[in-house]
Amino acid sequence: MAMKTRIKKAIFPAAGLGTRFLPATKASPKEMLPIVDKPMIQYAIEEATACGIEEFIIITGKYKRAIEDHFDSAYELEESLKRSGKKRLLEEINRLNRINFAYIRQRAALGLGHAILCARPFVKDEPFAVLLSDDIIDPEDTLFKDMINLYKELDCPILALQQVQKEEIHRYGVIDGLKEGDGVYKINNLVEKPRVEDAPSDMAIIGRYILMPDIFEILEGLGPGRGGEIQLTDALQRLLKKRSIYGYLFTGRRYDAGNKVGYLKATIDLALKNPQVSEPVKEYIIEVASRLKKGIRR
Ligand code: G1P
Repeated sequence: MAMKTRIKKAIFPAAGLGTRFLPATKASPKEMLPIVDKPMIQYAIEEATACGIEEFIIITGKYKRAIEDHFDSAYELEESLKRSGKKRLLEEINRLNRINFAYIRQRAALGLGHAILCARPFVKDEPFAVLLSDDIIDPEDTLFKDMINLYKELDCPILALQQVQKEEIHRYGVIDGLKEGDGVYKINNLVEKPRVEDAPSDMAIIGRYILMPDIFEILEGLGPGRGGEIQLTDALQRLLKKRSIYGYLFTGRRYDAGNKVGYLKATIDLALKNPQVSEPVKEYIIEVASRLKKGIRR
């Protein structure tokens, strides 16, 4: 069997306007909103680090500089933590210190497909991953690892899929596919954000992709699709004419932290997993639940 190129590079699109979180995102990036004690984007970065990604390419835009500062060294802060003996915090802020980040500005929010095309000069001719940071995967789940393994086996692009409710289907790229194995689907078609009556299935694409460099050629020549944006889903649909694409059905827990309710759910569940706060948070949730049961609002 031919040696597959290992996935070493990952793209993190982070240039969106974050309108669903206004006013919080008026001057600061949505990706920096904290979930417990880490900014949203750090969860995706750590997920990728755990799977052997070595080069991190963040697509940024206006008002996104805080992301670069967050992943940079903070000399003054480090010195002050050292002086006051706060070892644990020091380790925490230095944990991602060895990672190399590249930042590319997407000059206008022209869509996910366009954001990925911006990374072409860095990715060159290697396969690569895309992680959308507002899709938060439970850190105990192995979705991304499983996708990499599937890629090694099939040597094809792999998209993460999840079954979603009818009412939510219009928010996603949706696939039509044929089941080929445990959780593995060969994709026949993809549609970006269809109306529920036009959706080919209830299987939505979620924010983890393994792609090959031939997608760039297609993105280059692609016009705007849904919402006037250059859509990755449209490029993948065209790619289907040239090569097979597979989907991997995720059955674990995902939070759509790009909307308020998903963000709050992620905050609650991840707080319950964090030993520093889990006990008092649990007690508080039980107290709130009992108040709600009794119909007491405050
Ligand atoms: C993007 C993609 C869509 C995908 C979704 C997953 O949409 O265009 O195909 O289903 O991410 O989160 P967005 O959420 O950026 O509108």
